[in-house]
Amino acid sequence: MDRSELMNLLNQMTIEEKTAQLMQLATPFYKGAKEAGEITGPLEELDINEDHVRNSGSVLGASGAENIRNIQKTYLAESRLGIPLLFMSDIVHGYKTIFPVPLAIGCSWDMQLAEESARIAAREAAVSGIHVTFAPMVDLVRDPRWGRVMESSGEDPHLNSEFARAFVKGFQGDDLGSDLERVAACVKHFAAYGAVEAGRDYNYVDLSERELRETYLPAYKAALDEGCEMVMTAFNTVDGIPASGNKRLMKELLRDEWGFNGVVISDWGAIKELIPHGVAEDEREAAYKSIMAGVDIEMMTTTYVHHLSSLVRDGVVSEEIIDEAVLRILELKHKLGLFENPFRGADPTLEKEVVLCENHRLTARKLAQKSSVLLKNENVLPLQKSQRVSLIGPFAESDDLLGPWSWLGSGEDAILLKEGLLSKISPNQLQIAKGCGVESGTKEELAYAIEAAKNSDVLLLALGERSDMSGEAGCRADIRLPQVQLELIARLKELNKPIVVVLFNGRPLDLHGIIEEADAVLEAWYPGTEGGAAIADLLYGDANPSGRLSMSFPYSVGQVPVYYNHFNTGRPKGAPDAQVRYVSQYLDIPNEPLFPFGYGLSYASFSYHNASLSTTKMTEELEVRVTVKNTGVEGEEVVQLYVRDIAGDVVRPMKELKDFKKILLRRGEEKEVSFTLSEEQLRYHHSDLSFESDPGAFVAYVGSNSRDVIELPFQLVK
Ligand code: IFM
Repeated sequence: MDRSELMNLLNQMTIEEKTAQLMQLATPFYKGAKEAGEITGPLEELDINEDHVRNSGSVLGASGAENIRNIQKTYLAESRLGIPLLFMSDIVHGYKTIFPVPLAIGCSWDMQLAEESARIAAREAAVSGIHVTFAPMVDLVRDPRWGRVMESSGEDPHLNSEFARAFVKGFQGDDLGSDLERVAACVKHFAAYGAVEAGRDYNYVDLSERELRETYLPAYKAALDEGCEMVMTAFNTVDGIPASGNKRLMKELLRDEWGFNGVVISDWGAIKELIPHGVAEDEREAAYKSIMAGVDIEMMTTTYVHHLSSLVRDGVVSEEIIDEAVLRILELKHKLGLFENPFRGADPTLEKEVVLCENHRLTARKLAQKSSVLLKNENVLPLQKSQRVSLIGPFAESDDLLGPWSWLGSGEDAILLKEGLLSKISPNQLQIAKGCGVESGTKEELAYAIEAAKNSDVLLLALGERSDMSGEAGCRADIRLPQVQLELIARLKELNKPIVVVLFNGRPLDLHGIIEEADAVLEAWYPGTEGGAAIADLLYGDANPSGRLSMSFPYSVGQVPVYYNHFNTGRPKGAPDAQVRYVSQYLDIPNEPLFPFGYGLSYASFSYHNASLSTTKMTEELEVRVTVKNTGVEGEEVVQLYVRDIAGDVVRPMKELKDFKKILLRRGEEKEVSFTLSEEQLRYHHSDLSFESDPGAFVAYVGSNSRDVIELPFQLVK
């Protein structure tokens, strides 16, 4: 089909057929559907009739090759114009082979593996009939109270942009038309959903345009530069207007300034939510504002299907606007090859072969190894295979390892931590006790755990948050582990045995009560289907931890938001001339996070030497060089380059990540790592929103995390 044929098709559509094309409904509305699909928002009684469903353009949350083939076949048999349905689902960190949650993947700093995980997710989804995934989620996150931080790759614009590109590449490949094992990507949630006030989901967002552009927008832009086909609106306001009805954001910025001409979809119910937000009096006004903002598809509410036709008839909205939206959807269907083959990759035989296959599981294991972050280790890890271990805690035998947004994954397919350990040591070396549940426990459980602990050489505590304690609508004001788990570790500490804590959770936690008691802490996040195997590999030194935090761990929730690329203030704490009291500080806790961005330990030990610049007077670019030496066992190090602009047109962050390299060093090996830093990388948005660099003083920092760095001052000469 070419564009003129698509236009021809469009011209044959009635206004009702066009507006129905703009509606997305969940699977249960369709004849022939066997699987209900995932329900991730309010499922209201939708006032729709058979015609609406018969003409609707896309389906939310269907899965399974047979199921999707049935829905498509039944739908097309009744369709006047034979326009196939698009099937869209949230394949966020895996289809059935579940990878670690995206925040964990962020900690891998490994773009190749991230891309590979998205390729595998796409492959499993595509052979199971899905055409579009609602991923990647690239919202920059600074507040761990927000449950959805687990869906983001972290707090840094540069790192998030790199991941955004890698995920889009992995999902989409080079040609969606010919590569039937890929899916179209939908970057979300445009924009700045990660900045919800007080870390409470769906809440207000207030940012200056400069901050929006500088910090929050780059990752969405990176995804679009990589060719991402779709954009999903955010639930939140941006400068006082909900994103789904925000013409300035969606039309002027996304479409006109960035030139995005793909499909924009609202989040679940977000168009109708313009009413409770208080910017639309009724559904008709909500539909008007959203279509005028350039939102093409309405997910799971029906303001479009009920009001757009009359808005056109009444001359309030021109039919051209509707046509543009419909055409974008038809073009995506065309690009995916659906007019020629409406079933596309859906192949029940291939589905059986491919989904959860051994190779996919191997990648999941590798990525889980690389995503875990070793936060503390006082000579206790790696464990010796001769040691007797007591595995204690609510996650000892739990299959809640997949994390939120893994709706097709099954705990039954997951390798439990216990199983991972049993692949390393014999059953008679392992004692298992729950100790307590995630949020409550009994005296008997605790007593049993204490007894079990007495007969072992090391206590391995599997602690954490249930997966429904993070994710969408999973916000917490107190980000410590529940009291019962803190009590468990405190009581076990009395036994004076080495304690290793493995954490399963979806956000940076306030680790007080854990970090002082434990001799080692491994942050495993929700590690996915191969989680137990990967964690056991790390605990026994068959893999070496190489994850580095992509989001700071606060010292206390009172600090949040706390992030490495903060500003200095006029009264910085610790400056040479600083007063004791009248500086920017807390009286009761440090300003610094407990563990900074970029931090993570290894069983290897890396030292940095001979850091130098090719010149201290930069015109167009300079080289930053440093030698990294490994004095321990073989391991990977993430060498990080940061920059500070000492005096800008507006205040500049204390450090900004500009580049990084993940390198493998054998025992005793040293390598020179070099980065090219260009003038372009020093540009930022000035007060008038121009994007340029400032001549004058800068500092480059090179090191193993955002705190432990070597300083290299230079001048930018223009
Ligand atoms: O894709 C999601 C989105 O991230 C949150 N609301 C529901 C959508 C569809 O499931």
